[in-house]
Amino acid sequence: MTKKLIPLIAANWKMHGDMSWAQKPVELDAAFPIAEREHLELLICPPFPLLPALHVVAGPLNIRVGAQNCHSEIKGAHTGEVSAELLADAGADYVIVGHSERRASGETDQNVHDKAVAANRADLIPIICVGESLEQREAGDAIKVVADQLNKSVPDIEDYVIAYEPIWAIGTGKIPTMDDISDMHHAIRKRVGQDIRILYGGSVKPGNASEILAVPNVNGALIGGASLEMDSLAAIAKAAS
Ligand code: PGA
Repeated sequence: MTKKLIPLIAANWKMHGDMSWAQKPVELDAAFPIAEREHLELLICPPFPLLPALHVVAGPLNIRVGAQNCHSEIKGAHTGEVSAELLADAGADYVIVGHSERRASGETDQNVHDKAVAANRADLIPIICVGESLEQREAGDAIKVVADQLNKSVPDIEDYVIAYEPIWAIGTGKIPTMDDISDMHHAIRKRVGQDIRILYGGSVKPGNASEILAVPNVNGALIGGASLEMDSLAAIAKAAS
């Protein structure tokens, strides 16, 4: 029996939007009103400058905000970086760490581990991303690769979320079979225990969300492209609730 965890629908806006997007939660709430969202957690992760303004609008609508990255240290000479503490101060509850787009530009499992520790230190919940490449999937190594990422990038903390995102499914319109998602999430569940939410990410759309979110051990989704339109984000969230 798998435990019933409150689903988390997380929007990863990546490098999209402008300051007017701070009002997007109003649109999202119109498409999926707060009264209908009791058994669901909604989260938007915008680019850094949007965080405080988005938080002001999203908070009263029971929509949480998070960041897409943080630094591992509290402060210091780290030009261009942002601490987890400052993100919390700006209104964030979550921070995505180790997204494959960041791993691709050099972030290591150890970096991801240290960022998750920093998030925890700042009372943020890290969403720790893992996932295999197409080459690794085709070689039959997907579960082994993800197990290795989990071992190296998940620190010994209580509260975190895992996002399983096959790299080849991100932004491509391709998704694994439901059996493959089920096998991977089952393997992750064995490693993280019953209390941790495991999200699926990679080309989640309104048309495939119900099917994906019904797979055992899928406790929500991390959504890129389809999260930029509030109607489609609402449709995916409805499929989770
Ligand atoms: P996608 O991105 O939904 O556009 O595939 C997912 C992600 O990168 O988190």
